[in-house]
Amino acid sequence: MKIEDMPKISLGEYPTPLQKLEHLTARHGKHATLYIKRDDATGPALGGNKTRKLEYVMAEAMNQGCTAMLTTGGPQTNHGRTTVAAAIHCGMKPILVLGGHKPDYLSGNLTLDAMMGTDIVFSEDVPAAIEKTIARYEAQGDKVYNLRVGGSSMTGVCGYVMAVKEIMEQCEAMHIQPKYLVCAVGSLGTYGGLNAGVRYFHAPFKIMGVPVSPQPMEERKKNAADFINQISETYEMGFTVKPEELLINNGPEDNPYSGEAYNKPDPTTRSYMFELAREEGIILDPTYTGKAFRGFLEMADQGIIDGDCIFLHTGGVPAVWTKEHLDDMQKELFANCTISEI
Ligand SMILES: Cc1ncc(COP(=O)(O)O)c(C=O)c1O
Repeated sequence: MKIEDMPKISLGEYPTPLQKLEHLTARHGKHATLYIKRDDATGPALGGNKTRKLEYVMAEAMNQGCTAMLTTGGPQTNHGRTTVAAAIHCGMKPILVLGGHKPDYLSGNLTLDAMMGTDIVFSEDVPAAIEKTIARYEAQGDKVYNLRVGGSSMTGVCGYVMAVKEIMEQCEAMHIQPKYLVCAVGSLGTYGGLNAGVRYFHAPFKIMGVPVSPQPMEERKKNAADFINQISETYEMGFTVKPEELLINNGPEDNPYSGEAYNKPDPTTRSYMFELAREEGIILDPTYTGKAFRGFLEMADQGIIDGDCIFLHTGGVPAVWTKEHLDDMQKELFANCTISEI
């Protein structure tokens, strides 16, 4: 099927704003003019990049007659939180199967998942837990849609393929000609979809990815190229991409943009989060967008990206309020502002 004909439902508000970062361009604009695409503002349940994917996934689930929506991820999955909200919107039962042990204190995304009445299952063996949970629901007559991690299925990717068209139209209306769009690379749905979209719609800009966890670059680019070629084949887009044609940058080897590990609190990432917050009043998250934004500013400073450059804000802000991140940043928070008592 052609991607334009894929069934979708409406969950978010589009186009999301595309804004110039005036103050940061003044500070970091030697080579580049900086813009931000606000996909943190898609809605629902605080939005983020998953909303665009879920519009296609939920349409498929409804067409299949599903009554429950199950997805999976880490305990603080943004994808999980947004999927729960989408399921509720569509009248389906929301289920999250999350890696690890049941916590005795709920913070960040888990607070919101709990507020939305989600059935949350923790397990050390996620694949087995998914099977058992599906069986439990099926025994009571439900039909369960099992959505892969990050919503990055061949259905979900349509969201970011089509987002390219939205960005092209917006840039034309604003008379800007971006050379680069920078985004976080996680489960590949966003980066892969955008890469397929720029090729399919002949967009004038390139997609530059910033990893959020360490992985050898050769392996990462090979996986990404395979994924993008699968999108092209699925939707008969007629292009192929080689790993070496893809742009992914993890920064300096001794202090990479990805930090030491996925979701590990990282002071360098935070210094860039704090800078955007102080200079523009825009909040990033410490797990995905903080890392990608560090890459965006450092690459702009070094002229690795130049001209009009767009940073894609993919959401994730509830992670700011997780205990591990809050504990780690207390000192920096006090140093970043003035707090007094009269
Ligand atoms: C806030 C945020 N940004 C970026 C990503 C990465 O997107 P993808 O998994 O499509 O690569 C995620 C994934 O969970 C996310 O939650």
